[in-house]
Amino acid sequence: MATIRTQVGIIGAGPAGLTLAHLLHLQGIESIVLESHSREHVESRVRAGVLEQGTVEILRESGVGARLDREGLQHHGIELRFGGAGHRIDFQELVGKSITIYAQQEVIKDLVAARLGYNAPILFEAEAMKIHCFDAQPTIQYVRNCAEHLIACDFIAGCDGFHGICRPAVPASQLRVHERHYPFAWLGILAHVPPASEELIYAYHERGFALMSMRTPEISRLYLQCGPDEEIENWPDERIWEELRTRMATRDGFVLKDGPIFKKGITPMRSFVAEPMQFGKLFLLGDAAHIVPPTGAKGLNLAVADVRVLTRALVDLYKRGKREGIGQYTERCLRRVWKGQRFSWWMTSMLHRFENETGFTHNIHLAELDYVTSSRAASTMLAENYVGLPFDTPGLF
Ligand code: FAD
Ligand code: PHB
Repeated sequence: MATIRTQVGIIGAGPAGLTLAHLLHLQGIESIVLESHSREHVESRVRAGVLEQGTVEILRESGVGARLDREGLQHHGIELRFGGAGHRIDFQELVGKSITIYAQQEVIKDLVAARLGYNAPILFEAEAMKIHCFDAQPTIQYVRNCAEHLIACDFIAGCDGFHGICRPAVPASQLRVHERHYPFAWLGILAHVPPASEELIYAYHERGFALMSMRTPEISRLYLQCGPDEEIENWPDERIWEELRTRMATRDGFVLKDGPIFKKGITPMRSFVAEPMQFGKLFLLGDAAHIVPPTGAKGLNLAVADVRVLTRALVDLYKRGKREGIGQYTERCLRRVWKGQRFSWWMTSMLHRFENETGFTHNIHLAELDYVTSSRAASTMLAENYVGLPFDTPGLF
């Protein structure tokens, strides 16, 4: 079996794997990225859209922010809509920060182009099958073009998402898992219609949650709370628009224009954290270690925050001979991850309808939304978390 050597073997070319490979390259640390899917597949997978200000700064400072700066839509607030009226949370005024709407697959395209531009390896259609010896000399066994290969490396970065092979490779006795399932899912669409509002609208309604987001000035991204086991076939376009119109209606006659839907899908919701995030020379990053329900728009941003922690630890080790950062990886990541979990769970609980809701629980939702939008302290808490909490150390490296 052919063996290649590198410093860091990275499994997965999602936001975590590609950002890690890019930042390590800038610091002169070599890596190989393995990705089971094709380049076309990862560059067209529709997922996140909201980048925290800190994520944008990392991409910009590392030289992959030019198109993001040109095409990303900077937003200074969001609207919470309930009881037939909208209430704006003004991020700029409350915390002096903003978010940027820029699709995850565009971030992926920029990172792939940068890496191929400096001739560093991403092996597409290369599936990692097994990882070995993460206490001594780690190796990754992978299959490409029906042939088996081996990578020998100093460290393995498990950036292979929730369904990858890295987390399951850790003995169950050494892994603690914290998990919560929600009794609903999101039905998401992309449609050729200009966004109905300049900023995102999160709507709470007795029929369930709805979200108006966007990708470009011509393309809207909308979501509806639906049952966890629903079939997309039962949601013809007109039913989706009708439900969105009902849930987003206001007393002053808000009009949600419809348009041709060109993508539809249903996403389950869960909160999940596996700890620790490091086992010897194996590190878990992003969705491989934790999942949040999408209501707080935190998944991609938490993945990039893990990358930042690991990059600093590896730079400290390779350049300065310091090992502390490696030992503190789990603790540093989890401090932020749990705050992202709390915020995502809180937004989800406030904005969705649960099973067996009563007049009492409905009024609790409304009271909480009224409080959040009328108390400066509560709005600031939402704004501070939504735009991204400050990192606990300054600078990129
Ligand atoms: P992934 O993106 O899952 O990447 C893992 C990669 O590893 C994949 O490319 C996979 O093909 C590859 N892989 C897996 N196994 C192997 C193997 N054995 N060998 C080789 N390669 C392998 N987050 C936000 O921050 N903001 C949002 O607005 C937001 N909205 C979302 C909306 C939806 C509908 C969904 C589904 C998610 C959303 N998220 C959002 C979450 C965000 O998309 C994820 O958190 C993010 O993709 C995590 O990145 P990752 O690199 O950790 O994992
Ligand atoms: C999106 O635009 O895809 C999006 C926006 C906000 C969220 C989740 C997803 O909370």
